[in-house]
Amino acid sequence: MYALAPIAYHLGLLTMAENEHNQSPRVWLETYGCQMNIADSQLVTAVLRRAGYATAARPEDADVILLNTCAIREHAEERVLGRLGDLARLKQSRPDLRLGLLGCMAQHNRAALIEKAPWLDLVAGPDSYRRLPEMLGAAGFDPAVDVRLNRAETYGDIAPEYASGVRAYVTAMRGCDKFCAFCVVPYVRGRERSVAPGEILREARKLAERGVREIVLLGQTVNAYRHGATDFAALLGELARVDGIERIRFTSPHPADMTPALIATMAAEPKIQPYLHLPAQSGSDRILAAMERGYTAGEYLELVARLRAAIPGLALSTDIIVGFHGETDEDYRATVGLMRTVGYDSAFTFKYSVREHTRAFRLGDTVSEAEKGRRLAEVIALQEAISLERNRALIGREFPVLVEGPARRGGGMLAGKTPQFKTAVFAGRPAIAPGDTVRVRVASATAHSLTCALA
Ligand code: SAH
Ligand code: SF4
Ligand code: F3S
Repeated sequence: MYALAPIAYHLGLLTMAENEHNQSPRVWLETYGCQMNIADSQLVTAVLRRAGYATAARPEDADVILLNTCAIREHAEERVLGRLGDLARLKQSRPDLRLGLLGCMAQHNRAALIEKAPWLDLVAGPDSYRRLPEMLGAAGFDPAVDVRLNRAETYGDIAPEYASGVRAYVTAMRGCDKFCAFCVVPYVRGRERSVAPGEILREARKLAERGVREIVLLGQTVNAYRHGATDFAALLGELARVDGIERIRFTSPHPADMTPALIATMAAEPKIQPYLHLPAQSGSDRILAAMERGYTAGEYLELVARLRAAIPGLALSTDIIVGFHGETDEDYRATVGLMRTVGYDSAFTFKYSVREHTRAFRLGDTVSEAEKGRRLAEVIALQEAISLERNRALIGREFPVLVEGPARRGGGMLAGKTPQFKTAVFAGRPAIAPGDTVRVRVASATAHSLTCALA
C-alpha cells in the first residue's frame, strides 16, 4: 500500500496543483484535542506541502479547510460540530471550497458523520494521512472516506513541519492497548506501535541543528514504547546523547509502565527533567478497578514515593475524572484524599463523559450532571490551593530556566520553564536570547507561574 504513496502525492498534485489564481491550493488546518493531535497536524502539513499545497493565512482564503478533531469527551465533539456548522455556511457562499474532517472524531463517528454533515468532502482517520493528497484530488460527489486503522503506520519516515521555538514535540509511539473502560483512544487511534529509534534520533538531531533545545516525546502511553530491543528507558538514554538537546521530557506515561529501569534512567540522566504527568484518574480502588486502570490507589502512591525518593525536586501533575459510573460520595472523597496526599503541582480535572464504543458505554451515567459539576468545582478549587502552596514554597529558591521568548505579560519580561515545567517570568537583559538557559531566583508565585529575578 505504501509503495503507492508517491503516486498518490503526484495525483494530488495533478488535480489540485493550481486554483483559479494560478497558485498552489491553500489549506487552512484547525487542530483540536491533545498534543498528539498537534503533532499530527504538523505531519499533515508536511504531507500536503510535499503534494504542492500552501498554507492559507485565514480560513476565508483557503481552498481546503481541514479540522483535526478530538473525541475524548462529548464536549470536544460538540465544539467541532458547531464549527462545522459555521464552515457549512462558508461553503454555501463558496461551493468550490473543500471541507475535511480528520483525526479521532472522524474515526469515532465514521459514516454517521457524513449523515450529520453531508457537506463534508473528506473524512480521514489518524492512520490515513498519507492518502490525504489522493483523497483531496479525487473529484466527485461522494465524500472521500478513509477510516481504516493500520497497526503498522507510524509515519516515522515523514518529517513533520514543527512549530518554531526552543521546544519540539516528537511522536514516539501511536495508539493505545490499555482499554481503560471510559476511554475512546484505543478505538480511534488503534493498537500501540512505536516509531523506530533511528527515526526519532534523526528528527532530534535535525531539531537540535535548528536551535531546538528541548524535546518532549509523545504517546498516549509513551512509556510503553518498545521497538525491537529498545524500550523506553533505552530510547531516553540514546536521546540524551544527542548534542544540542539539553532537556528531555515525555508525556503521558502510564503508571503501570513506570519500570524500575525507567525510574533509574530518569534519576541518572541529567537531561531528563524532573517532571512527570502521571494520570491517576481516581483515588478509589473500586472505581480504579471499574475503570480497568491496572493499579490500586496504594500502588499508585507507592510509585509516587519511589519516584520522589529517586528524583529530587520531582514535580507531578495528573488527570482526574469525577463522576465515573457508580462513583459514590465515598469514592469521590478517596480521590480528594489522593490529591491531598500526593500534593500535585497541577491537575487536569474532567467530568466523566460516556463515550460510545468504550467498555463503560453500556453502563451509562449514574452521577447527575449537577453532582459532577459540584465535584469538579471542588477538585479545581482544591488543586488551585495546593498549586499555590507548592509554588509559594519555592520563593527564594533558584532554578535554571530555558528561555522561550517574551512573556505574555509584556513589559520586556521574558518567560521560560524551570526543570519542573513551571512557567518562570523575569526581567530580561539584552544579551539573553531564546534557547539560553539562565539562573533565576523566585520572588513571588501564583498557582500558575513564578515571578523571578535573574540570579
Ligand atoms: N493516555 C493518557 C490520557 C489520554 S486522555 C493516560 O492514559 O493517562 C486525557 C485524559 O482525558 C485522561 O487521562 C482522562 O483523565 C480524560 N478522559 C479520557 N476519557 C474520558 C471520558 N470519557 N470522560 C472524561 N474524561 C476522560
Ligand atoms: Fe485512554 Fe487509558 Fe489508553 Fe490513556 S491508557 S489513552 S486513558 S485507554
Ligand atoms: Fe482527543 Fe484523540 Fe488526543 S481523542 S485527546 S485528540 S488522541
